[in-house]
Amino acid sequence: GLTLDPSSGIIRGTAPAVGTHRVTITATNARGSAAAEFRIVSGATLALTPPMGWNHWYAHYNRVTDALMRDAADVMVRSGMADAGYQYVSIDDCWMNAPQHSDPLRVGPLRDAQGNILPNTHFPSMRGLTDHIHALGLKAGIYTSPGRLTCAGFSGTLGHEEQDAKQFAAWGFDFLKYDWCSYTEVTGNNPDRAALRKPYEIMGKVLASQDRDIVLNLCQYGMGNVWEWGAAVGGQCWRTAGDLGFELDRIFEVALQNAEHRAWSGPGSWNDPDYIQIGYVGSAFTGGEPTPTPVPPRMQYVYMSLWSLMASPLFFSGDMNRLDPFTLNILCNPEVIEVNQDPLGQSAAMIPLDEETFVMVKEMEDGSKAVGFFNRDEIDRDLTASWSVLGLQGTHTLRDLWRQKDIGTAAGSLTYRVPARGVMFVRVRPLH
Ligand code: GLA
Repeated sequence: GLTLDPSSGIIRGTAPAVGTHRVTITATNARGSAAAEFRIVSGATLALTPPMGWNHWYAHYNRVTDALMRDAADVMVRSGMADAGYQYVSIDDCWMNAPQHSDPLRVGPLRDAQGNILPNTHFPSMRGLTDHIHALGLKAGIYTSPGRLTCAGFSGTLGHEEQDAKQFAAWGFDFLKYDWCSYTEVTGNNPDRAALRKPYEIMGKVLASQDRDIVLNLCQYGMGNVWEWGAAVGGQCWRTAGDLGFELDRIFEVALQNAEHRAWSGPGSWNDPDYIQIGYVGSAFTGGEPTPTPVPPRMQYVYMSLWSLMASPLFFSGDMNRLDPFTLNILCNPEVIEVNQDPLGQSAAMIPLDEETFVMVKEMEDGSKAVGFFNRDEIDRDLTASWSVLGLQGTHTLRDLWRQKDIGTAAGSLTYRVPARGVMFVRVRPLH
């Protein structure tokens, strides 16, 4: 039931029979030919590997428009991001109408006479937008809140859950971010776990009854240990904390907190420490126009390495119209992404070396391991991890993932000089 367009590489069609289908895909150009086996897995579980894509929030905030979304989709293909695996093009808050807003084109009736949710004037055709995204071989994401209003004060879904899920499916969306926001109006303060679960259970059910696969992304900032029950209510990924846009100077801390929930990581079940904010991003404090990210270059390698080792959803949330080669290099290193997308779905174990340094070790499906050596110190440091710390035996070959270079073999231990607030990211394979 599937066909491959040889010029674009896009596979289209209807999901094949439940099971695993192995296909060999060959790519040929002037420099030669390469073949690889792909597994097409069909079944009830969505998001078998961490979702990858782009989300508008940290670039465009309440300025988002249909045109910006279409541009982002075009750039995702043109820049090579789609080739690296980025796929979802996701609208965040502010596509609906608000009861009041500084932009009059975002103010209007929240719903029509039949109760259908109404996009604002900046979104003239939701179906046209998802058609554009799908024609590029990509998928489309949308956002709402179980509350009366979203976090930015736009129309939420309260009381219209089934109707909105149907509408999102009819528009052709493939991903829904469901953001708690004003839902505390319903639960009151300090809701218990049943009250925290309820809105997500409702949405999980109505999405599952649509004739469309729609990934459900829970956004409620980690309340009630959401990682323990996010999958049970029908979610595939859940934010484990508040907005990272306010904490870009605390990436290590936020990541290490997320890493504690590694037991709940696996196919169809992902801990989400929030978006990749590099390149040009607007400040979460001001919601202003994008400027160069406050994350220093070396920390950007750390950021992406941590997200890969933790099998986190990979959503870039910077300005797609101002991507530079450095940013694309961070986002699109295929060997780093392979660690993130490994089918086992393991989130790396964190092993402290001392107060300021640690390693993260992720077991990969092929029996190799991805290992990050991280230095939180303000000075360069020599980091050593022994085979017993890394869980290795015998001689291993070493691959430097960021530089994409083989760097010899080792037995017994590894030592690297890691720059201040930096990382050395390697993949180790048993030498046969
Ligand atoms: C919350 C979420 C953010 C973003 C905004 C939109 O703060 O955590 O990711 O969706 O709402 O208003």
